[in-house]
Amino acid sequence: MAAFELQEVDHVAVAVRDLDTAVAWYASALGATVAHRERIESDGVEEALLKVADSYVQLLTPTRDDSPVAKFLERRGEGLHHVGFRVSDCAAALESMKSAGAAVIDERPRPGSRGTTVAFVHPKGAFGTLIELVQE
Ligand code: CO
Repeated sequence: MAAFELQEVDHVAVAVRDLDTAVAWYASALGATVAHRERIESDGVEEALLKVADSYVQLLTPTRDDSPVAKFLERRGEGLHHVGFRVSDCAAALESMKSAGAAVIDERPRPGSRGTTVAFVHPKGAFGTLIELVQE
């Protein structure tokens, strides 16, 4: 197995019903500014990344009713959705998690937002937390 480095908490993702409302609230409550905004059609989401030092808060809202984030909002309401860990090698980190018994959602790394490479790991077997591995 190739070695990799766990570099940073890349982002904490929060599912919200209205992106503009959430962006405005983070701006007034915390002075947070939008570093990046993108619609990711393949995932059925629009995101706003708020810069916090070297990490981000990722506000996520669904763009269609059948997106996983829409289902999450329906079931659980607004709130913490996943944690993104920045790693030096997404494929190596994914293999390491598989070896540790994690149930993966993505069998192999795929393109994420802002040109990153990502893979998701299921909350089952990860202490109830959806984990995203992010390689810049
Ligand atoms: Co994410």
